Amino acid sequence: MSITGVDGIVYGVEDMALCRRFFRNWGLKEIAEGRFETLDGTEVILRPKDDPVLAPAFEAGSTLREGIWGVGDAAALAQIGQKLKAAGMAVSESKDALSCIDPSGLKTSFRVSRRRKVAVTGAPSNTIDQHRRIDTPSPIYQQAEPVNIGHYVLFVPEVEPMQRFYTDVLGFHISDSYPGTGLFLRCSAQGGHHNLFLLKSPTGKAGINHVAFTVRDVHEVIGGGMQINRQGWETQLGPGRHPISSAFFWYVKNPAGGLAEYYTDEDYLTEKWQPREFEKKPEIFAEWAVTGGIDGETRRQKIKA
Ligand SMILES: [Fe+2]
Repeated sequence: MSITGVDGIVYGVEDMALCRRFFRNWGLKEIAEGRFETLDGTEVILRPKDDPVLAPAFEAGSTLREGIWGVGDAAALAQIGQKLKAAGMAVSESKDALSCIDPSGLKTSFRVSRRRKVAVTGAPSNTIDQHRRIDTPSPIYQQAEPVNIGHYVLFVPEVEPMQRFYTDVLGFHISDSYPGTGLFLRCSAQGGHHNLFLLKSPTGKAGINHVAFTVRDVHEVIGGGMQINRQGWETQLGPGRHPISSAFFWYVKNPAGGLAEYYTDEDYLTEKWQPREFEKKPEIFAEWAVTGGIDGETRRQKIKA
């Protein structure tokens, strides 16, 4: 099986106008009312939360209503259908996708990927031993333009049933874990550190924690974060850096549900990677981080009045 990554997500929202403004400001292209794309064609779809075409919500209010995973071709899609049915899952089939409800209660779909190859480049760093950027200044971004959705993060009542579903049925690989409370999964052996992170819910209920949008380099995380702050959206935490995955991050409160994250420079793993286990504590979540973001006008940390 070859799941290639997140191909799209669907939110059910209370305020369409507000959420449309958020995703335009976030740097996505609105190709039709409430339908957005990243640079490579990964879709973000907004629908009113009571739209009857949506699957039942796994939590109240504006939230994620469907995660869509891409596969390489029709044969891989058929194979996923067989695996799901063999595992006893109820599978619904539409014109070009298969869907089921994952153990957290989230509608989870599969389709032949619609993502496009895009020619985007990040700025190389000059380190003590490697000068990879010669006679070339590094960029300053006025606005982020996310390339794709790298991962999403769910609160789940129990990690174990989700682990079995995503690893045994769908073939995801464990990258790292907080034993019993957190599991980082990637959809293929070779690729970015995680495409799905499952976090045992402190309330015992399922829900969306965040959706993470990949940008080119750390300068785009910073420039994008400052711009979203200038546009009046509230930073939860960022910029900062995760010890697990090594990525630079910036989390912003998303009116469509949970948080939206700009991130870059995550670890790239292969078959040789050995999953690690960590105790869940603040210094493992963030090496460093700024609370509340940076004021794009003063270039200084935002301090709440
Ligand atoms: Fe993340």
